[in-house]
Amino acid sequence: MWTYLNGEFIPKEEVRVSPFDRGFLFGDSVYEVIPSYNNKLFLFDEHLERLKNSLSITNIPIPDPLKDLHPLIMELLKKNQFSNQAIYIQITRGVDPVRSHVSASTTIPTLFMSSAELEINPYRGSSHKEGLKVKLEEDIRWKRCDVKATTLLPNIIPFHREDESDTDEILFHDGEKINEGSKSNFFFVFDDLIVTPPKEQNILLGVTRNYILKRLSEEGFKVFEKEVRIEDLNKADEIWVTSSTKEIQPVHQVDNKVLPRKELEEYYWHKTLKILEEDLKSNC
Ligand code: PDD
Repeated sequence: MWTYLNGEFIPKEEVRVSPFDRGFLFGDSVYEVIPSYNNKLFLFDEHLERLKNSLSITNIPIPDPLKDLHPLIMELLKKNQFSNQAIYIQITRGVDPVRSHVSASTTIPTLFMSSAELEINPYRGSSHKEGLKVKLEEDIRWKRCDVKATTLLPNIIPFHREDESDTDEILFHDGEKINEGSKSNFFFVFDDLIVTPPKEQNILLGVTRNYILKRLSEEGFKVFEKEVRIEDLNKADEIWVTSSTKEIQPVHQVDNKVLPRKELEEYYWHKTLKILEEDLKSNC
């Protein structure tokens, strides 16, 4: 496997970043994840825009290679050969001469990219695979989850408790309000209404979430950005997650509450995944 670090393509086994990098010392870094299908990036402009937004909010300078990123990613995809890949772009504020909260103005940001094979979503087609097991968790994250920061401890700790080995995703709630998952956005279905928490809440504005919202409304579904409360979970007919690596995946249960069963073709998540699959076919 090949990686890209500050202007050079380097084999995975040989690539090195300094332990004095602010990403390591302070978690002073942001990232982005872009899916590619048949060597074509999906929603590249939207991901690049969000990455620039994360850099702008954190005041991390835009690294030079970001000005012409597309060809670099294409080169990495070619070197790593898998036809479907997830590209991870990590940008830190860089390595300072002296450890300090205040970075030197001359410090050059670190740009690291890697890619991994993107497994085909197991819920595509006519899969009857059981949905995800989700655990509710109080949202103790910072208040700028619109920034895709690498500082992800609150997202990671819940998976490392002793009894959590079969938890697929964590669903964060802020008091009564549902926000999002630890690595995905959430959609809820109540009768024929499809709802996802609004952008005013403390969530990452998922590129997949935004795309699904747009496509569902174009296709005539009743879809809204609207607050969802913990008590609403008992009334939900369906719950599903979206992300660049998971696409759309259904939830089977939240804590002990199991979601109602329907015929596969009746599920809104299934209809939505079909729309996405068709779109991906024409993208490739
Ligand atoms: N996670 N919310 C959070 C907290 C996320 O980490 C992610 C994505 C999403 C969905 O965003 P998008 O649709 O743009 O992928 C929502 C990625 C895949 C990750 O960190 O690996």
